Amino acid sequence: MPAKSIVRALAPRHPDRPFMEQVNIGMLGGGTVGSGVYHHWRCNGALMAARLGLRLHLSRVAVKALDEPRPYEIPRAVLTTDWQAVVHDPQVRVVVELVGGTTVARTMVLEALRCGKPVVTANKALLSAHGEELFAAARRAGVNLYYEASVAGGIPIIKTLREAFVGNRITHLYGIVNGTCNYILTRMKQEGADFADVLAEAQRQGYAETPPDLDVDGHDACHKTGILASLAHGFWVRPEHIHVEGIRQVSKLDMQFAGQLGYTIKLLGIVKELPAPGGGSRRARGPRLQVSVYPALIPNTHVLASVQGVFNAVFVRGDVVGDTLFYGRGAGKDATASAVLSDLADAALDLVHGSARRVPAFVAHENHGTVVPLGEVSSRYYVRLSVVDRPGVIAKISAILGAARIGIASIIQPEGHVGEVVPLILMIHDAPNAVMDRALARIARLPVVKAPPVRFRVESLE
Ligand code: HSE
Repeated sequence: MPAKSIVRALAPRHPDRPFMEQVNIGMLGGGTVGSGVYHHWRCNGALMAARLGLRLHLSRVAVKALDEPRPYEIPRAVLTTDWQAVVHDPQVRVVVELVGGTTVARTMVLEALRCGKPVVTANKALLSAHGEELFAAARRAGVNLYYEASVAGGIPIIKTLREAFVGNRITHLYGIVNGTCNYILTRMKQEGADFADVLAEAQRQGYAETPPDLDVDGHDACHKTGILASLAHGFWVRPEHIHVEGIRQVSKLDMQFAGQLGYTIKLLGIVKELPAPGGGSRRARGPRLQVSVYPALIPNTHVLASVQGVFNAVFVRGDVVGDTLFYGRGAGKDATASAVLSDLADAALDLVHGSARRVPAFVAHENHGTVVPLGEVSSRYYVRLSVVDRPGVIAKISAILGAARIGIASIIQPEGHVGEVVPLILMIHDAPNAVMDRALARIARLPVVKAPPVRFRVESLE
């Protein structure tokens, strides 16, 4: 880094460092999150300097339009519409990408890394789609790519996995990582309301995007779960290898039955280490993982069940630490800014102390890790069938399940009227997903079954 880019400034309050180094930062994107970062840096920059022994200085901000409305003001003097000028400014030593999307943002991040500048990003879609390429570019450049804000907003889960849990094998991770879905499911449960009604109201109130697909169809949770799986297990987990189901098929009826059975339905990002086939050595073949996103029944007694509204939570089980839980706001200008400021501090400390390799942001360290297709993974299930109430129906269904070696744990059928269509709820013991799919397809073809079967997996979180 050229000497002229290092600005020294007097910092009277730091006892060990009478002269503090200043690290200039160029920010790409000055919208909701960008203006939040600028605002909170202005409020707490001096506190950060006192803690870090260096000064962060947000010297330039590239935006699409100078006059666009933003939740917090950014002074006109630091704004530009020329992102290249920010990235190539020799005074700028760290680049923050907060524009979102996967096209221009990818070009921006690659260009900053090519210039040898550490990059901080909040962009989960970008990392999910191009993570391998971007981390390889960072490695070539000898700098870090930081991404705390990409998963679960203000919850410091990336730093926790990367640093605090470096001595653990992560055997299980369950994340409520999409606030929109958690808000909708919470209201469905609390109000006995149906998905479409809660979604429509959430959109009116600005809690859900229009269109809502990225959130309610599970894609946003997929991006985040893939990033967590990659970091926890040391090989890049591609989104196309993650089984994703959203929450559109959750109905108030299922919420009610789940509640009667002692469960809550949550959209979970799931990363589980599976045993080696035939009891072989895990070390020889690398980790075999289940990586999935789906709505699951979880016990009401588990702490994750009490995560309400837009809040996020990540439950991590390490082989050394045991069970841990991280809770907080997963989105929004303030919580996300908190994560970005943390990354900026790390990036600046790396530069000033020459410690970029201290705890690298992501290192691929497993050559043979695999994501096991969900069909081969065993789960427990809640199944709701719409059946004609007549003698012999349960016998027909249990014959199909029995032939597939699938065990029924319990059955509920609310009292109905003979000959009418009634719900039949089955709780099913562990069975491979592909076996369960085939059995449900056969059950669906029975003349007494009057609607497509509804199936959710049950996660006991034990
Ligand atoms: N749309 C996301 C959510 C926030 O609802 O949690 C951004 O990741």
